[in-house]
Amino acid sequence: MKKIAVFTSGGDSPGMNACIRAVVRTAIYKGLEVYGINRGYEGMIEGDIKRLYSHSVSNIVQRGGTILKSARSQEFRTPEGRKAAYDNLVKHGIDGIVAIGGDGTFTGAKIFFEEFGIPTVGCPGTIDNDIYGTDYTIGFDTAVNTALEAIDKIRDTAAAHDRIFFIEVMGRDAGFIAVESGIGGGAEFVMVPETKTDLDAVVKSLKNLRKTKTSCVIVVAEGDEEGNAEEVMAKVKTKIKDDSKEFKVTTLGHIQRGGNPTARDRVLASRCGMAAVEGLISGKVNCMAGIIHQEVVYTSFADCIGKTKPINEDQLKLLDILSI
Ligand code: F6P
Repeated sequence: MKKIAVFTSGGDSPGMNACIRAVVRTAIYKGLEVYGINRGYEGMIEGDIKRLYSHSVSNIVQRGGTILKSARSQEFRTPEGRKAAYDNLVKHGIDGIVAIGGDGTFTGAKIFFEEFGIPTVGCPGTIDNDIYGTDYTIGFDTAVNTALEAIDKIRDTAAAHDRIFFIEVMGRDAGFIAVESGIGGGAEFVMVPETKTDLDAVVKSLKNLRKTKTSCVIVVAEGDEEGNAEEVMAKVKTKIKDDSKEFKVTTLGHIQRGGNPTARDRVLASRCGMAAVEGLISGKVNCMAGIIHQEVVYTSFADCIGKTKPINEDQLKLLDILSI
């Protein structure tokens, strides 16, 4: 292996830059040439590929976003798109790829490897933490802390006005951000897509809660099966039938995707980036480099996208107990 390429794809996450930096510098340290592909699979199809040097990744370890930019490519879903991408890699003599992203990125990488056989190793980059094969994904810790900071602030005003707040956090298919920011922020309830939300039970507890507490924070993952925070609030409001209670919704949105990565995310990103390059050099293909129990683990893309990482039951229990 002489030349490798790195790209970021799907929703960006804080720490992707630290990961790119680790890939580039590890590759150079090991005597490889490195190329950066802009805008993920889109740039691969268009041939938007440039050589990267050690100085290309200076002063980015602390920055959110991704210097390589990111995209969700429709064209890469087509055989023609993937063929065009392959031709561009061949033109540059690329014989290994590091793909930084989430399940959509790995789904594309798996098909691409099966069709064209270019060795590919992934790094788990998504704020959602919903990738099997790693304890945490790059960006999750930062996103949780961003959500937590917002929840703390909302608590202040919720308490001042005796209001019930529904705070929507990201997580289309996963409730990891909701659960951890809910525990850290002392939420009275957390609603996540992985478990059935019993709105009648929520209403009942809310009525009881109001005897002892005057304000309340409910964290809703955007993908909860009862709907987003607006929809959940409307349903609860109808059921609770009490005009004396004031309900408010705050949607945190893309603020959770930006910002300087936390120390945890920078370290995780750096470790995964280095492990991806070392994996490629040692012959690993079609898999992701993650960290489980502090050790580097390579998990096949098939498992990363096919197996579900469960929400920790103990954490859900903790939420129930601590919100009495
Ligand atoms: O996958 C990461 C994520 O932030 C999800 O939590 C969210 O549902 C989605 O991306 C939003 O995507 P977009 O930025 O394309 O709106």
